[in-house]
Amino acid sequence: MFPPRTVRLKDGRNATIRLATPDDAEGGMALTRAVTAERVFVMNEGLVLTPEEVRADLSSPETDEKLVLVAETDGEVVGQTGVHRGKYSKNRHTAELWIVVRKDWRGVGLGEALLRADMEWTRSVGIEKLKLGVFASNVNAIHLYRKVGFAEEGRLKDELTIEGKRVDDIQMALWLA
Ligand SMILES: CC(C)(COP(=O)(O)OP(=O)(O)OC[C@H]1O[C@@H](n2cnc3c(N)ncnc32)[C@H](O)[C@@H]1OP(=O)(O)O)[C@@H](O)C(=O)NCCC(=O)NCCS
Repeated sequence: MFPPRTVRLKDGRNATIRLATPDDAEGGMALTRAVTAERVFVMNEGLVLTPEEVRADLSSPETDEKLVLVAETDGEVVGQTGVHRGKYSKNRHTAELWIVVRKDWRGVGLGEALLRADMEWTRSVGIEKLKLGVFASNVNAIHLYRKVGFAEEGRLKDELTIEGKRVDDIQMALWLA
């Protein structure tokens, strides 16, 4: 079971990183809505799941197949991350990661703490490769992924149009084995 932890951030604030629960559904959806409204970081343009579907998903935040963590402070969800293992025998040694941090909590180390928690769990369940997709324009995210050991494995040229400009879609991966 993923052990919760409180992290002290570079600006002196604290956040608790723990397994998500169904009661995080509303806070997590508010965070997703805020990040999608920024329009430049993630593909989704709104919520994909209903509140009931999110609550159901968060009723089992940790299985052999997936992990969902939140970063919480004073009862508010300020960060979220998830890891989903490949479904088939051919890709069960891999997992896909997603991560979001609320705008007013970025740049102070919370993303790194969440990523390191994902890496710890992924290793503990025997997954060998953690991977993600990131827009080439998302320089802070790419900087952070490289910092914790991810490397570029592929790139779809001009795959996206963001704010009127063509942007590459980068695939990055971290080998844990
Ligand atoms: C990507 C993201 C999760 C990173 O989380 P974070 O809490 O900001 O990450 P950290 O603070 O741990 O690290 C960010 C790095 O970028 C640097 N940075 C510089 N300016 C920054 C800014 N305005 N915002 C965020 N990071 C900044 C930080 O200093 C840090 O590098 P350092 O540790 O070498 O100093 C977060 O920015 C985010 O949620 N962005 C919007 C959603 C998104 O892009 N998700 C990922 C899609 S692939």
